[in-house]
Amino acid sequence: MKENLSAKSYQNNAGAEGYVKFIDSPDGETFKKVLGSAISRRLEHKPHLDILDAGCGPGWLAYQLDADGHRVIGCDASPQLIAVANSRYPKTKFETADLTMPLPYRNGQFDAAILSLSALDLHDQAAAFQNLRRVLKPDGLLLMTIVNPYYGFPVGVWKRGWWRFLTGQTPKLRLRPYNNFLQNPDRNFTWNNSLISYFYTLPEQVNAALAAGFSLNFLQDVVSGEDEKNYSLRHRLYRFPIFLLLEFKAG
Ligand SMILES: C[S@@+](CC[C@H](N)C(=O)[O-])C[C@H]1O[C@@H](n2cnc3c(N)ncnc32)[C@H](O)[C@@H]1O
Repeated sequence: MKENLSAKSYQNNAGAEGYVKFIDSPDGETFKKVLGSAISRRLEHKPHLDILDAGCGPGWLAYQLDADGHRVIGCDASPQLIAVANSRYPKTKFETADLTMPLPYRNGQFDAAILSLSALDLHDQAAAFQNLRRVLKPDGLLLMTIVNPYYGFPVGVWKRGWWRFLTGQTPKLRLRPYNNFLQNPDRNFTWNNSLISYFYTLPEQVNAALAAGFSLNFLQDVVSGEDEKNYSLRHRLYRFPIFLLLEFKAG
């Protein structure tokens, strides 16, 4: 069993502050726009859902889904990030909870649960999927956005550099050996100086969700839209599917 290092890294003041700084940066704005709209689109014909934003961080997505007309609770293992979410979005409900431990919600309480880039932070994905399965209604949805494990970080390192940035060229991709990440017994890696995540392959993540009683409903590359020429240069990385969206249905 892996250690719960990721949650600890976000429970550290410097780690939590570093993540908030990223979310508020121009890159974070791009990330929220591209990932947030992919998630909202999956839910747009399903009004007034009860949604759990699981691993909500500073709360931007819970707030967005609230504004879309859903009833949302955001939960996260980091009290620091829950404090940020509460102060930014006082009308949305946020609370501290660890997804790998029994969750403080009723059986079948939610129509949908979202893991927005938080699945890779779970040291025990199997336990978290079982916990989320319990709090979802039968046929409830589990939506996950994940880093594409084949060429997103940590396998893919995307360098833009100032010249590429100024001239609007796409970032340059360097691929590191996939097997190196599989052979690391702890599977953890560090990013943004001090935050820890885990490397899971796509089949591992899908199989863990299937084993917890979900079925795979829909799979999508998350890329910028047809209007990307109107976007800032920072969107150009999103011409590549560095993120994937997976939608499961509770069985
Ligand atoms: C990459 S951040 C994503 C945050 C947010 N969903 C977003 O899209 O900005 C990963 C989040 O997972 C949370 N996390 C890590 N391990 C967790 C656990 N075991 N239970 C609940 N949250 C956890 C972290 O505190 C962090 O807020």
